[in-house]
Amino acid sequence: MIEESVFIEFNRQMGNDIWLMGFRSEALASLAKPGQFLMIRIQGNSQDPLIRRPFSIHGIGEGNIILILYQTVGRFTSLLSLTRNHDQISVIGPLGKGFRLPGSKQGAVLVAGGMGLAPMYFLAQALPPDARRNAKLFIGFSTFQGAGLIDLIKGLGLQVSLATEDGSMGFTGTVTDLFEQAIDRDAPEEPVIYACGPHAMLKKIAQKAGRLNLTCYVSLESYMACGLGICLGCAIRAARNQDTEYYYVCKDGPVFSAEIIDWEAL
Ligand SMILES: Cc1cc2nc3c(=O)[nH]c(=O)nc-3n(C[C@H](O)[C@H](O)[C@H](O)COP(=O)(O)OP(=O)(O)OC[C@H]3O[C@@H](n4cnc5c(N)ncnc54)[C@H](O)[C@@H]3O)c2cc1C
Ligand code: FES
Repeated sequence: MIEESVFIEFNRQMGNDIWLMGFRSEALASLAKPGQFLMIRIQGNSQDPLIRRPFSIHGIGEGNIILILYQTVGRFTSLLSLTRNHDQISVIGPLGKGFRLPGSKQGAVLVAGGMGLAPMYFLAQALPPDARRNAKLFIGFSTFQGAGLIDLIKGLGLQVSLATEDGSMGFTGTVTDLFEQAIDRDAPEEPVIYACGPHAMLKKIAQKAGRLNLTCYVSLESYMACGLGICLGCAIRAARNQDTEYYYVCKDGPVFSAEIIDWEAL
């Protein structure tokens, strides 16, 4: 784990309220694994907001560019969207435990709800070329966010299907519905499910994977004050059969095997 001050190389609007930011870091590019995250603070005269915010490492671009995909939801992300090339941010990471890649005979099925897309690009980047070509990605948004975002991930060569809840593009409905129909119809051999998105969506995906006896990894979100396992503010309940009562999303996750979580308590 390192703490670094870096200069923003670009910060582009990709959708209605979704932005893609890049900065150069050789150290992070060599250390980071898909599913890990960074704690970010904007540098400058203001310490506003005081607490760093967690963001998944979206991917690694050419020249050791670290990509962050984010949605403007509040104070920090709105300020982040106003930063320009050469502005400075401070990053701590890579943090947490990432995704376990599928075995050579297993197929990857990625399911992203909204900003759950953020860690999926890096996961797809890390798959061997054959596995990537056969991998399926299901993405869901409440409304279509623009072609740029989808084209970016399609550029990696995996099979992408889109759902929008308002029917503005692709399948009409939730990504969970789309996933459930597709996995019943044409699942790849020995699929491993990777899901990120709102907790209610993850619970449904985990339940479906459980019924089909499939390996399933979920990337969870939680409010994080420290991101380092110190404040204990990101505790979630472990499933009853585990040898601990709680897991901490920042240090035991954010990626968990779905069966070790108490989904009823989440
Ligand atoms: C491990 C991890 C990785 C993440 N990766 C990404 C990412 O790659 N891209 C991205 O856009 N976001 C990501 N998030 C969520 C991101 O951290 C929050 O959106 C951000 O902290 C919001 O800060 P804010 O000051 O803009 O909003 P705030 O003013 O803090 O909150 C605004 C609104 O967003 C909601 N909110 C805030 N934080 C969260 C959260 N963690 N989960 C759910 N709702 C929240 C609040 O309830 C409130 O309604 C991640 C969170 C975690 C824990
Ligand atoms: S965020 Fe502080 S312990 Fe996890």
